[in-house]
Amino acid sequence: MKILFIGDVVGSPGRDMVKEYLPKLKEKYRPTITILNGENAAAGKGITEEIYRNFLEWGAQAITMGNHTWDKKEIFDFIDDAKYLIRPANFPENNPGKGLVFLTVNNIEVAVINLQGRTFLPAIDDPFQKIDELINEASKRTNIIFVDFHAEATSEKQAFGWYVDGRVSAVVGTHTHTQTADERILPEGTAYITDVGMTGPYEGILGVEREAVLKRFLTSLPVRFEITKKGKNQLNAVLVSVDTKSGKSTKIERIMINDDHPFFS
Ligand SMILES: [Fe+2]
Ligand SMILES: [Fe+2]
Repeated sequence: MKILFIGDVVGSPGRDMVKEYLPKLKEKYRPTITILNGENAAAGKGITEEIYRNFLEWGAQAITMGNHTWDKKEIFDFIDDAKYLIRPANFPENNPGKGLVFLTVNNIEVAVINLQGRTFLPAIDDPFQKIDELINEASKRTNIIFVDFHAEATSEKQAFGWYVDGRVSAVVGTHTHTQTADERILPEGTAYITDVGMTGPYEGILGVEREAVLKRFLTSLPVRFEITKKGKNQLNAVLVSVDTKSGKSTKIERIMINDDHPFFS
C-alpha cells in the first residue's frame, strides 16, 4: 500500500494548496491513504472543526497535530468526536483527544500515531517510552504503523527513527517546516525522513511574514507573527510504500511542489 503524507498545512494558503493539489497528487501517485499534519491550519495556530471537516472532504483520511494542537479554543468542543484527528500521544494522560487512530482501507488496518519531541519544545511525557506502549497496543491489530514525530531537533528525530526501526512502518518528521533530503529505508524496514516540510506560503519564513520575523531577529523585541498571504505557495509531502504482509516499507519518496520545483502530472 502507498501512504501519502502532507507536511504542516499553514493557514489559508496551505489549505488552498491541499484543495488544489491533493486530487492531482492522488491521480499521479494513487495513494491508498492520505494523512496530513494540520497543527497550523487555522491561521498558523491550531485547527477548527470546519477545517478538519474540509480536509476529510478534500480527500485526507487522518489529520495529525503537534505543539499547536490546543491553540484554537474550539478544539476542546470537538476533538473527542473527531474520529480522525490525532494529537501527540505523549500529552498527559486523560487530556482530551487521542494519539493513536486505526484506519481501515480495503480491509487493511493502519495504525496512525502522533508524538511530540521534547528537545526545544515544551516538556511533555517521554515519546520514547510512549511509543513502546503504543506499538504494543497497535500491533495487536495490525503490523502497519505510521508515526508522525513532531519535533524540533534533528538528533531527537534520528534517534527516534533508529529506536523504532523494524517496529513501525514509517517515521515522518514534522514541525520544522523545512523538508530534509535524508529520506531512507532504515535496515529493519522503517521508512524515515527527518522533516517532510510545510504546505503554505513559499515566500514567508516558515510560513510567517518575513518583515515580522526579520524585525524579531534585528531588534530582539516582541513581534506579532502573522502568516504570509501574499506571494507564491508550496506543498511538501512524502509517499511511503509499505508491504502489507510484513508491515515493512520498501520505498519513501519526497514530493516538493513550489515555484522552483513545479508539479508535473
Ligand atoms: Fe508546524
Ligand atoms: Fe509544530
